[in-house]
Amino acid sequence: MNTSIPLALVAMSLSAAAIPAAAQQIVIHTSGTDLVLHVAPNHRLYQVYLGAPMACMSDYEQLPWDVYAASDGSVCQRGWEAYGTAGSEEFYEPALGVIQADGNRTTYLYYQRHEQHAIPGGTETTVELADDQYPVAVTLHYVAYDKESVIKAWSEIHHTGNLVKTGTAVQKKLAKQPITLTRYASAMLYFKRPNYYLTEFHSDWAKEAQMCSQELQEGKKVLDTKLGTRQNMHMQPMFELGLGQPVQEQQGEVLMGTLGWTGNWQFTFEVDNVHNLRVLPSINPWASDYELKAGETFRTPEFIFTLSQQGTSLGSRRLHDWARQYQLKDGMKGRMSLLNNWENTYFDFDQTKLADLMKEARTLGVDLFLLDDGWFGNGDHARNGDHAGLGDWEVNHQKLPGGIAALCDAADAAGVKFGIWIEPEMVNPASDLYEQHPDWVIEQPNRQTYYYRNQLVLDLSNPKVQDHVYGVVANILRENPRVKYFKWDCNSPITNVYSPASGSKQGQMYIDHVRGLYRVLERIQADFPEATMMLCSGGGGRGDYEALKYFTEFWCSDDTDPIERLYIQWGFSQFFPAKAMCAHVTDWNRQASVKFRTDVASMCKLGFDIGLRHLSDDEIHYLQSAIANWHRLQPVILDGEQYRLVSPYEGNHMAVGYVSQDRQHAVLFAYDIDTRYKEVLQNVCLVGLDPEGQYRVEEINLMPGKESHLQGNGGTFSGDYLMKVGLPAFTQERMHSRVIELTRE
Ligand code: DGJ
Repeated sequence: MNTSIPLALVAMSLSAAAIPAAAQQIVIHTSGTDLVLHVAPNHRLYQVYLGAPMACMSDYEQLPWDVYAASDGSVCQRGWEAYGTAGSEEFYEPALGVIQADGNRTTYLYYQRHEQHAIPGGTETTVELADDQYPVAVTLHYVAYDKESVIKAWSEIHHTGNLVKTGTAVQKKLAKQPITLTRYASAMLYFKRPNYYLTEFHSDWAKEAQMCSQELQEGKKVLDTKLGTRQNMHMQPMFELGLGQPVQEQQGEVLMGTLGWTGNWQFTFEVDNVHNLRVLPSINPWASDYELKAGETFRTPEFIFTLSQQGTSLGSRRLHDWARQYQLKDGMKGRMSLLNNWENTYFDFDQTKLADLMKEARTLGVDLFLLDDGWFGNGDHARNGDHAGLGDWEVNHQKLPGGIAALCDAADAAGVKFGIWIEPEMVNPASDLYEQHPDWVIEQPNRQTYYYRNQLVLDLSNPKVQDHVYGVVANILRENPRVKYFKWDCNSPITNVYSPASGSKQGQMYIDHVRGLYRVLERIQADFPEATMMLCSGGGGRGDYEALKYFTEFWCSDDTDPIERLYIQWGFSQFFPAKAMCAHVTDWNRQASVKFRTDVASMCKLGFDIGLRHLSDDEIHYLQSAIANWHRLQPVILDGEQYRLVSPYEGNHMAVGYVSQDRQHAVLFAYDIDTRYKEVLQNVCLVGLDPEGQYRVEEINLMPGKESHLQGNGGTFSGDYLMKVGLPAFTQERMHSRVIELTRE
């Protein structure tokens, strides 16, 4: 956001005497991690420590700020600058790149002051830095959540319009001219370890969040996206960095980081000449030079990270706890199970068919019926396929003559809530909206248009387009307050990259587009705080912690084959709590039983995309009891602590345990994916139970008439036994699943 800054910031003297001794060390503290910054004698700010808190805080004063680069024994005044800038003695990737008004491309930042104050759950530290020759100042923000050991870091880059030192008349005039930002990282972190291992989460449609790892060598590794919207289709904005050893689940030091930005993002990992690693999370500066006028501020997105000394298991639980309490919309509230019509009907439905499905939703016992794509557009622009109608958010009179009100009536009659699909940022050329407002669309005036899924992206840097997108939600809710849920889809990346509203500033369109989206979401949040929305993007092409301030959950993938889902959910669970991850039971992979498919989806926010007419009575009865169990166990599965126990990446099985916060209750999900002849099966050892507690073990989600063959079923075991010896939860049956409930006696 561009906002005016307090100009007092720039009126500082840079003399050594201006820096009080106490200001020379800034400790950003959490229960599990300390980040220590140091103001050096040259008045610049350096990272001197990032690791587990030291027992004696005064030890931080011993830390050298410039030791890390002195590889040949010579005195080297090069440290780890907290927000490294272009053009200094630093020759590696900077956090900040500025083209000053006179063309100079250097920036030097000097410490001005810092402040620390309490915020809910932790402490916010701000550190102000300023250039001594140019009108550039930077405020570094660090919000440290003490108990969860999660830190959010971002920066604000100010064009102050003034010089810190008295300048000549020419310099003063120049200081009022715009500057251009070419790089604007959210933060910068450094490490010195013998080796570094990076885990990334590459993706594609129906293959989201696939984990793979590599050792980082000297030079750069960049993870990024340039799709504009649906931006995470090929890579999710999260990483894990094993420090000194490969990333492991239960042990080892690992940095887990993610960026809250619903647009092009970039993570740069650079190992320098002395084998130090720097990590730079950022908006992707590619094709995005950004002009700042005097008095404007550029705010970077939040980089959210945790540094675990006990592997990703602990890191994930910290992130889950933090997200539920402080970031995810309605993070501490329950979630609704639902039945969606998409894979039941696709575009082929009418009021009667939908009313029948609502009755099926009721039979199943889910909370809500969700009407998907295809309910809008009329005449030539009727939405009977994906080639027309996007943008025309008026109900299709032929399919739904009674409008949304009649659908709400039918839902009321069935005893379920009603939700609806929208894709408000997009337009089909075959739509009234496109015919009326061709200039609202990102499209090149002078080249042949390329269509992705027959649609184009609306130009959200245009305030009129923002009003339109806001209006899609606001109109539905004002006319039909009984609509309780939205599925907000986004199926196309930005193609034909030209924003009519951005004029000569095409370099700013990717960023202004995202800011336009946030403006819309903020308005919706302010006017309809109760609106519950699922974030969807042609599967899991979107899902980041800034968007999740406005959305209660996200759709992980269109791929609902339960085997694939084990991997996809394993991947997303590294960063997101089960409560934020939508998982539906569908007909993908019909070879898997309804039980197996449902048990897989029950690990997250449960939904269905199947009709009941193909199911047997036994399957329907099974579903009714599994859904009731899921509702009953929400405090454990959605709000408890998650322990990934057996990885699908490491064999033929997978297991995840959830333990309620009070350790009175736990659920173990165990899956056999594929099995080998005479395979030797290992017990699943639980984690997180009270070793002194006694837990009754009961297999649930059984098909009617089936008995549990779990050895020990119905018995009571100590938490210690269950964690040391475990349960023989795996079998030699292909695509077999077990859900085991543990209740403390
Ligand atoms: C893509 C989503 O991922 C699907 O679930 C469905 O909503 C379709 N879009 C509708 O067009």
